[in-house]
Amino acid sequence: MTTETQAGSVHQVLLAVSVLVFKFVAPMQTVPLGNSTLKATRLAYGCWRVAGTWERERVTPQARASGVQAIITAHEAGYKFFDLADIYCDGVSEEIFGQARRKVRALQRSAVIATKCGIRPPNSPEGAPYRYDFSANHIMKSCDASLKRLGAERIDIYQLHRPDYLMDPDEVAKAFTKLKKAGKVKHFGVSNFSPSQVVLLQSALKQKLLVNQVEISLSQLGPLEDGTLDQCLAEKITPMAWSPLGGGHLGDGARQVLPSQEGYRAGKIRRALDKLAREHGVSRGAIALAWLLRHPARIIPIVGTTKPARIQELAQADNIELTREQWYALFTAARKTDLP
Ligand SMILES: NC(=O)c1ccc[n+]([C@@H]2O[C@H](COP(=O)([O-])OP(=O)(O)OC[C@H]3O[C@@H](n4cnc5c(N)ncnc54)[C@H](OP(=O)(O)O)[C@@H]3O)[C@@H](O)[C@H]2O)c1
Repeated sequence: MTTETQAGSVHQVLLAVSVLVFKFVAPMQTVPLGNSTLKATRLAYGCWRVAGTWERERVTPQARASGVQAIITAHEAGYKFFDLADIYCDGVSEEIFGQARRKVRALQRSAVIATKCGIRPPNSPEGAPYRYDFSANHIMKSCDASLKRLGAERIDIYQLHRPDYLMDPDEVAKAFTKLKKAGKVKHFGVSNFSPSQVVLLQSALKQKLLVNQVEISLSQLGPLEDGTLDQCLAEKITPMAWSPLGGGHLGDGARQVLPSQEGYRAGKIRRALDKLAREHGVSRGAIALAWLLRHPARIIPIVGTTKPARIQELAQADNIELTREQWYALFTAARKTDLP
């Protein structure tokens, strides 16, 4: 065995031991969402991939069962915040979450549920293109359909998935007010909104937007520089980070990613992550999440793995506090150019 393989094996053993020890320590820390009194765990579990495919007709009973197990594992590992969308596997992800809720009562009591609407698949109805739809009618109908699939009486945070080019803020405001009055939604948020789009929508709303869910990771640094995180800090909006491992590029490799993520290069970043992972006795993924957690805007990374062991070991990020120097070492490894 080479020295390198020996070091690798020692790291694997340390990792396994630390996951075991971690299971018996304090529950995951929580943070307030936006300016509200609602609290959520610092890591969310994302249900985009829990059906094992993105197409409803390809979902098998075994895949559904694995999805339910992934959600239950996440809950037991301390994640009490779950992110979904009506479009994830054409509603199957929400159905799987509903199944998990029926199976585990504690999920009904303690899980904060965030889901989304506003993206419409093609051919719904027949002949229609893929599009975004923030019409009041679509928002209201989507909410009812999500509640049914989730088996829930209320959604904690209802998010608009991607900015509709035809968004009429007053119309959205009317839909939000009706949903809130009907007790179907507690709070609202947005996803993939630019800072100016947040200002525009907020100007028409009675309720304060609690979250803006955007892609942030060492593979996607945009929100650190385009004003998104500045606005989150200034307006007390919680940033949620989707694809915190760049869809897998920052972990052990990506299986299925969005077209925009295909070109991500991670070699240099992984080497920088591995160095810190060895020092902390955790996985490189946990360090990538800790990098997000270190930001003062209180970013909530949305963990997307479907593998129980990975769900558990990534929860360790909650216990890691990177120093400014460690944060910058990762940041500079991730940047295309040197800091000015
Ligand atoms: N608002 C939006 O527009 C939007 C867009 C995309 C996602 N999201 C949300 O963000 C969540 C997370 O996104 P994501 O799934 O792309 O997150 P991610 O954590 O960046 O990527 C997870 C993927 O990486 C793979 N992976 C490879 N090596 C890994 C390792 N060592 N550890 C962990 N995962 C590893 C996983 O495969 P295995 O499953 O085999 O482990 C999985 O396919 C979604 O579930 C969804 O809730 C939102």
